[in-house]
Amino acid sequence: MSADGKARTNADWPAIRFTVNGESRSVHVPPMKRLLDVLREDLHLTGTKEGCGEGECGSCSVRMNDELVNSCLVPVLQAEGADIQTVEGLALESSLHPLQESFLHNGGAQCGICTPGMLMAAAQLLAHSSHPSEAEIREGLAGNLCRCTGFMRIFASVAAAARETESELAKEPVVEQTHHAR
Ligand code: FES
Ligand code: FES
Repeated sequence: MSADGKARTNADWPAIRFTVNGESRSVHVPPMKRLLDVLREDLHLTGTKEGCGEGECGSCSVRMNDELVNSCLVPVLQAEGADIQTVEGLALESSLHPLQESFLHNGGAQCGICTPGMLMAAAQLLAHSSHPSEAEIREGLAGNLCRCTGFMRIFASVAAAARETESELAKEPVVEQTHHAR
């Protein structure tokens, strides 16, 4: 209820601005609304899933300012000015991200509830470690639970994607740098 006794509408809330998947977005929502709900309900980015709603399962993981966060625990106010990546931002223009391809081909996804969160945790890991060891993969995904796959296929999917990404990078031509004296 607002000060004049009228019911508040979303338009009454001040704008909260952030970037999602490279696009500037602005929402008028209660500042304590969970980032998870803002993504799903207000921005219609329903790839991010809710599992436990208590920060335990990692299903709602997104990348925010190059950190992996549980969006069920983040009040949207904390996202003001942030750079957020959700699973919708992983795919490349007309093709799946190597992680998505790998999960598909290596049986890393079954019911799919944990998958967006797993992919985001894996993307965070690969952004900082291009050829992670199995121990690093396990550690990188330690906050994400899966009740279907027994984890081994997920770990194998991430390892295969890392190998694939590395070999793609190796194919890229080296650009010779020319330095001009002033
Ligand atoms: Fe957020 Fe489980 S739904 S951690
Ligand atoms: Fe079902 Fe992971 S694939 S919870």
